[in-house]
Amino acid sequence: MKLDISKALKFVDKQQFEKFKEEAKVQNTALHQKTGKGSEFLGWVNLPSELSDELLTDIENTAKKIHNSVEVMVVIGIGGSYLGSKAIIEALSGSFENLRIERKYPLVIFAGQNISADYLHELQVLLYKHSYGLTVISKSGTTTEPALAFRVLKKDLEIKYGRKGARKRIIAITDAKKGALKKLANTEGYKTFDIADDIGGRFSVLTPVGLLPIAIAGFDIRELVRGAKKMALETETGNNPAVKYAAIRNALLAKNFDIEILANYNPKLHYIAEWFKQLYGESEGKGGKGIFPASVDFTSDLHSMGQYIQEGRRNLFETVISINKPDNKFKLPTDEANLDGLNYLAGRDLDEVNKNAELGTMLAHIEGGVPNIRIELDTLCEAEIGELIYFFEKACGISGYLLGVNPFDQPGVEAYKKNMFALLEKPGFEGERDKLLKK
Ligand code: PA5
Repeated sequence: MKLDISKALKFVDKQQFEKFKEEAKVQNTALHQKTGKGSEFLGWVNLPSELSDELLTDIENTAKKIHNSVEVMVVIGIGGSYLGSKAIIEALSGSFENLRIERKYPLVIFAGQNISADYLHELQVLLYKHSYGLTVISKSGTTTEPALAFRVLKKDLEIKYGRKGARKRIIAITDAKKGALKKLANTEGYKTFDIADDIGGRFSVLTPVGLLPIAIAGFDIRELVRGAKKMALETETGNNPAVKYAAIRNALLAKNFDIEILANYNPKLHYIAEWFKQLYGESEGKGGKGIFPASVDFTSDLHSMGQYIQEGRRNLFETVISINKPDNKFKLPTDEANLDGLNYLAGRDLDEVNKNAELGTMLAHIEGGVPNIRIELDTLCEAEIGELIYFFEKACGISGYLLGVNPFDQPGVEAYKKNMFALLEKPGFEGERDKLLKK
């Protein structure tokens, strides 16, 4: 993975950037020495080198058993208990994988990430025709969305396979000791994996939370961890990519660039952006502070958001993830009639067109006043994604500290829950409903 911030530097105050960089190095050390805010949630910092061979083997063996026993694995979770594995599976899978009838590995489908009646019902209808299992993931074990989906799908599974049969098809990933899910898993004897106390949801993709679904989908988790380990080493000290990225983001914010758009030129990266938005949004957006994380899929969104980015309010900066070598290359054909006027591209590779669209867009956006940060991956493979994931996590911790917030809590998430519980008249929230309805 390579980071290039040179096209953002002219938009910041150089001295201020250098100051942020020095401060970022200090904050990186604070992450390693656990001296900053939220230091009880820093288990992810050394995780890549601390993951035991025993745990990885257990995850791989569990995945192998699933490969041989189900057609579909439903992974139930929300936020950090969902987005990391969803992002990595999407990035590594074929674009039309879901439509394949002959499959080597089970189809991984996600549930419990919304409360849509249509989504759950349509999933039930699909599962009716297939053999399936459930992997339920919740650190707290009490989050409403996944708990609701699990309640419904567990019942269906028990009807299909009997309670005993269902137990063998359910895996729970949750707290080692506490929570409703842990209690249920103990009672029913589900296969379980623990989430360490010192790793919060959005930093948990390299724990069983992310690794098990990724292994079930048939991908190489050791390669993913190897990539993360490489980046962990690279960002341990000094003027490293995470330090630079955190510093340039904060220097841009100081110049009122308060919206960061993560852009890609390969739709397989769509969910990497969703994961990124959760990571940065939930970590930095508090106390009236933070850079608002947004995302676009180019070139599709050049035909929707492109106009705003080029000429709208000048408070945006772009971070582009570019894949050097796509898995597939092909030459564009020639056409005798040439009615579309595209013969000038005949014989050239489609990726050359994509790369020139990227370069042209970068130049136009910079010209239009949009600072550009570029992250280059050589290929879309497990190891490079592992590097990218750890890079974003490390930079997020540093950047949050530079902003002066605790990047590892999410107090604001409780507000909607309190209102929802009161409106639904959950015991313990009596009396609040009328007050809310008057509002
Ligand atoms: O990053 C976080 O901590 C959150 O996004 C959580 O992952 C999310 O709320 C789900 O929580 P839980 O795993 O406890 O169900």
